[in-house]
Amino acid sequence: MGVDLPYYYPINDFGPVMKGMVIGGLGIVHVFLAQFAIGGGAIMCYFQWLAHTGRCAAAQQFLDSYFKFLVLISFVLGALTGVGMWFAAIQISPRTIGLMVHEFHWVWAIEWTFFALEVVAGYMFYRYGGLLLNRRRMQLLLIYTAAAWFSLFWINGILSWQLTPGAWTADGKVWSGFFNTSFWPSLFYRSVTSLTIASLAACVVINTMTGLDVERKRQLINRAAHLLAPMVLMPALGVWYLQAIPADSRSWLLGGSPAMTMFVALSVGASLLIGLYAIVALVWQRLYINGATAALLCALALAATAGGEFVREGSRKPYTVRQTLYANSITREEVVRLRAVGSVTADPYPLRNAGAYLNDQLRLGARVYRFQCSVCHTVSGANGLTHLTGSWALDQKRMNIAKLQFTKPFMPPFAGTAEELEALVQYLTWENASRPSTWEASNDRTAIANIEKWLIEAGPERVGEGEVRSERESARAEARGSLESSEVSFPSMGADE
Ligand code: HEC
Repeated sequence: MGVDLPYYYPINDFGPVMKGMVIGGLGIVHVFLAQFAIGGGAIMCYFQWLAHTGRCAAAQQFLDSYFKFLVLISFVLGALTGVGMWFAAIQISPRTIGLMVHEFHWVWAIEWTFFALEVVAGYMFYRYGGLLLNRRRMQLLLIYTAAAWFSLFWINGILSWQLTPGAWTADGKVWSGFFNTSFWPSLFYRSVTSLTIASLAACVVINTMTGLDVERKRQLINRAAHLLAPMVLMPALGVWYLQAIPADSRSWLLGGSPAMTMFVALSVGASLLIGLYAIVALVWQRLYINGATAALLCALALAATAGGEFVREGSRKPYTVRQTLYANSITREEVVRLRAVGSVTADPYPLRNAGAYLNDQLRLGARVYRFQCSVCHTVSGANGLTHLTGSWALDQKRMNIAKLQFTKPFMPPFAGTAEELEALVQYLTWENASRPSTWEASNDRTAIANIEKWLIEAGPERVGEGEVRSERESARAEARGSLESSEVSFPSMGADE
């Protein structure tokens, strides 16, 4: 059998808000907190050691204050944003989630087991830490930290696979996908970031502690700053990471895409400021750092995380799983088929308020927009298509959309018929004219013929990617197709025939 039609999910409309911003916003906070939880474990272990070897007088007091803060912030907010991520992703990118679960079922199971262990160990420490002997406390903290770090280890394989699936694309094996080229650099980078965040948070907490004189606090801060030392590895890890990612993504980060380059600069700049401050003020001069400065450094770390996550998500475009699944939930294999049979012909979901559209062509256009474009664009809000195409003549719209992957390399190829494309153009033009109350459906045979010609010229693949697809890869896609049609119980990758 050939390639199937995609499985259709209901697509929610977030109004003027870009969907990527919803996921991105939640993701940034979640990643920041999750990394804080890991680094927090490490710093707790360090201070526990300082406490029971008698190296630092106020270490015990610090442990109690810090742990409350860690539990409150990272457990409560971390769990809430984690649930929020799933809640948003399942609406915005259900097929990507489906593929991630399908390919990495047991890896998720392992990851959640470690997460459960982390929560149990953390809770036990919270509840019984005060009653335990030093040795037991240390063991509990070590379990907590190892579990937290291993949950990063497992999730990191899945996230890095999305950008660099590498050998998995050809052999489909779980471990080829998991231990992909960006796995190690991103794991190490995130580990260092975790320590950094935990250390800066410690400086904030130490400032809020009562009943300690400044000298004690200074000692604690200098100890906490030791966890900033691994930051010296960051430049090397950053270069390693850049080398591991695909050449086109790399070129966007390094100037090719102004937005992405800006976020790289934000991330690098913020990290540099933290690093310089750490070296000069904390390690070398052994200065005291007050609450405001500590909070500012934390904010910088959040900015660095935000930049980094934006870059990681952005550089994957137009894919959510590189070489496999486009962000609009269409696979590379499906493009050809959808161009022949239409992208929304089999889409069972009605338009919201369908009566507001004046004719069937506008309704078709709106559905094509919803299916193929709405994951990255809004109609007239953020990254709005009416603004982007507002000044273009009709034929310009037709051509630039037919050659979408050339118009901007971070867009997938158009995956529908010429009639659908014309309907989309009419729909956008109608929206751009603020939905006038009369609108004739276009019936322009020359326009359709031109669109067909442009679609053929553009081809169904991204620039330079036609040849990437090997014999084995197509064979695998074929095998996957027939495998899935027999798996009735797993709908997200399913076949319609
Ligand atoms: C993977 C995400 C993604 C998808 C899917 C996507 N786009 Fe885009 N598109 C972008 C990004 C990012 C830009 C750049 C916006 C900018 O430059 O400000 C863009 C820009 C554009 C532009 C402006 C190009 C220019 O040269 O100024 C048009 C027109 C456009 N998209 C149309 C579409 C249409 C129509 C669809 C659906 C058939 C679509 N896009 C699907 C991400 C996407």
